[in-house]
Amino acid sequence: MAIGLEDVVAAETVLSDVDGLAGRLVIRGEPLEDLTGRVSFEDVVGLLWEGFFPDLPADISGPLAQARARVYRIVEREQAMLAELPVYDGVRALMARLPDGTDLDTALLLTAAPAVALPAAIRLQAGKRPRAPEPGIGHAADMLGMLGDGPANPAMAAALDSYLVTVIDHGLNASTFVARVVASTLAGLNSSALAAIGALKGPRHGGALGPVLDMLDAIGSADNAIPWIENELASGRRLMGFGHRVYRVRDPRADVLKAALERLARSGAVDTTRIELAQKVEAAALAALKRHKPDRVLATNVEFYPALLLEALGFPRSAFTAIFAASRIGGWIAHAKEEAANGRLIRPKSHYVGPLPREAA
Ligand code: ACO
Repeated sequence: MAIGLEDVVAAETVLSDVDGLAGRLVIRGEPLEDLTGRVSFEDVVGLLWEGFFPDLPADISGPLAQARARVYRIVEREQAMLAELPVYDGVRALMARLPDGTDLDTALLLTAAPAVALPAAIRLQAGKRPRAPEPGIGHAADMLGMLGDGPANPAMAAALDSYLVTVIDHGLNASTFVARVVASTLAGLNSSALAAIGALKGPRHGGALGPVLDMLDAIGSADNAIPWIENELASGRRLMGFGHRVYRVRDPRADVLKAALERLARSGAVDTTRIELAQKVEAAALAALKRHKPDRVLATNVEFYPALLLEALGFPRSAFTAIFAASRIGGWIAHAKEEAANGRLIRPKSHYVGPLPREAA
């Protein structure tokens, strides 16, 4: 029995390949390093969706911008809900307001929804009015424009775009598997996306981003890194931003996003003392994890440096996992379409270990 379905192959996909031994991620034939910082989020969504929607345009930028404007009209009606719920739950609840279906229009609205609901929720919770999306600008720049009080700084928009491109798809991770399970029942894309966004929330998946910053705050200064880390490990707690089910070497997404953070720092938008502390904490954590688990490679994963990147972009840490969802939605939709087209109902078995009925006397 494969507890956690470790090493079980449960789907065939043309979408992405995670090579955990080589530390390589390929998205539709393209190595991640050729995508991050070179193409936009819209381009990668188009790449992933190719062949799954008969009416997919060559460039989805315009239709996605229109979808953001349509979602904003729903956001305006749901301000009380977005002001009240935790950001992640508000974004999920707003997605649940959208129609379920399997067509391109449903896919575009679902992809627009977190990008529009998330900045609105952050503003509302800070006592500000939401800001409407702007036509004619990119998805990442528009997200930052809706968050701030004016147009996005181009270096910041490029950094957010790099993040959205990097985390859009990653093989059969927990949330993508959930999306495929739901799609295998032939429910609509919204049903798949809502199930997946629930799975992403947990700290063993997309929920480690904010806790990475909590860890840096708790450590405070480089000379406290080793004692703090040793105490965590001795207490049986896990270090956030380290370890991965598949990678047995460094997560390649950690490297491209560290490079994106360094590019942003060169524009002056990042507190470099924060990066220096993070680098020292990373080195101390890697050494401690090696001593703690000598038989298992526990390397830096995709949550560590992005937490600093998203903080530098002005997002509160309570919103980080929703930004992850704003990217991964593109992958979930592609996987749901692929599963519904090719797959068979996903229905594994369980092994009953409970009591047996008493024999009739
Ligand atoms: N800190 C300390 N110990 C760890 C860590 C960590 N970050 N990660 C794994 N370990 C330990 C486990 O406690 C386990 O020890 P045990 O055998 O004595 O119980 C051993 O290493 C093996 O770990 P597994 O639980 O088998 O690893 P798994 O593949 O199930 O977990 C996971 C992967 C969930 C990411 C894990 O490494 C973890 O909890 N990391 C911290 C949270 C985190 O960074 N999450 C983001 C993941 S990236 C993403 O999903 C986008």
